[in-house]
Amino acid sequence: MRILFIGDVVGSPGRNMVNEYLPKLKKKYKPTVTIVNGENAAGGKGITEKIYKGFLEKGAQAVTLGNHTWDNKDIFEFINEAPLMARPANYPEETPGNEYVITKVNDLEIGVISLMGRTFMPPNDCPFKKAEALIKKIKKRTPIIFVDFHAEATSEKQAMGWFLNGKVTAVAGTHTHVQTADNRILPDGTAYISDTGMTGPIDGILGMKREDIINKFLTNLPVRFEVAKGREQLNGILIEADSNTGSAKKIDRIQISDENPFFE
Ligand SMILES: [Fe+2]
Repeated sequence: MRILFIGDVVGSPGRNMVNEYLPKLKKKYKPTVTIVNGENAAGGKGITEKIYKGFLEKGAQAVTLGNHTWDNKDIFEFINEAPLMARPANYPEETPGNEYVITKVNDLEIGVISLMGRTFMPPNDCPFKKAEALIKKIKKRTPIIFVDFHAEATSEKQAMGWFLNGKVTAVAGTHTHVQTADNRILPDGTAYISDTGMTGPIDGILGMKREDIINKFLTNLPVRFEVAKGREQLNGILIEADSNTGSAKKIDRIQISDENPFFE
């Protein structure tokens, strides 16, 4: 089986790329399941019901979130009616939304977990202990488990990869928006990458207008960030795994941009 994962979709440029290339990627790679990180999909902050449903219409079977989960107030209207959307599981238990998702494609069930790091991030419950608890639950249904670890520090991300080595199919980092070249299969069959990268403007800074970000560094004053315009990119990963054991065999990086054109 194959898992296609699209990294942080940023604003309308990111959604354009998903609309244009997700159908083409699906045709080319025939993933069993497609997962999209949508935490920046609405104007760079949060997600709306329309966008969530748009991802599903384009062929995603699960959507993960992150630290911007609550930034678009629309979320509170639909999060409890979004069965294929996983919010970071290590928020307090009473938080609305799904702690994990089990998405069913044909006869195969795939567990999807979103977790947030704690290093240089807002305070949260322990993502490691939460992962352990959820994996125990999900393993009763399926050995295929995908973890989106939304975190800032590569050390924390690597720690999660090794902590879950052999326990899940994949630990894919998100949040830093820059794709890392350390994709590998850990010795006990877990696919790992520190960051999947982002889908959105390529000439901004992490997808935002670069003038605003530079200004912030120059002045230290509060600045309102806006999604950048111009050329676009899509970043993702493709994982191959044994559907009986959940063990990963291969993880490849996907980059689509002017410099890395897509070939059908
Ligand atoms: Fe984030």
